[in-house]
Amino acid sequence: MSPWIALFFATIAQEAEPPPSAIDMEEGKALYRKNCTACHGTDGRGDTPMGRAIPNMPDFTSAVVKQMTDQELFDMITKGSPPMPSFQHLSEAQRWDLVKYIRTFSQ
Ligand code: HEC
Repeated sequence: MSPWIALFFATIAQEAEPPPSAIDMEEGKALYRKNCTACHGTDGRGDTPMGRAIPNMPDFTSAVVKQMTDQELFDMITKGSPPMPSFQHLSEAQRWDLVKYIRTFSQ
């Protein structure tokens, strides 16, 4: 296979959601506690001093977030949206762990 074709498939593979067996919830929780609670809160509702200071702070337990796809959550974590920083420096697996951990708030 040419390197370009290999790269193409590697890119597609990275975008795909990993199987449930690849998800590490403990890692997701630890990363969330470290990087996200200041704004989003330990319960995901955004009811923190920082979260309350941000207009339209999302609530991970809300219908709006429930309706978003996992890919949309993943993309937000990857790219950020000011004032939310980008978390592109985390590995892809770690970002998926975060997506799955966030989902637990609305279960
Ligand atoms: C500085 C505060 C801040 C931090 C830190 C932060 N976020 Fe956010 N986050 C926001 C804000 C504000 C939005 C809404 C942005 C928008 O809609 O443009 C948001 C949106 C999101 C969304 C999309 C939800 C929606 O309704 O649009 C996800 C998913 C998310 N954050 C996950 C995370 C994760 C995971 C972390 C930690 C790795 C994190 N955030 C850290 C402020 C923050």
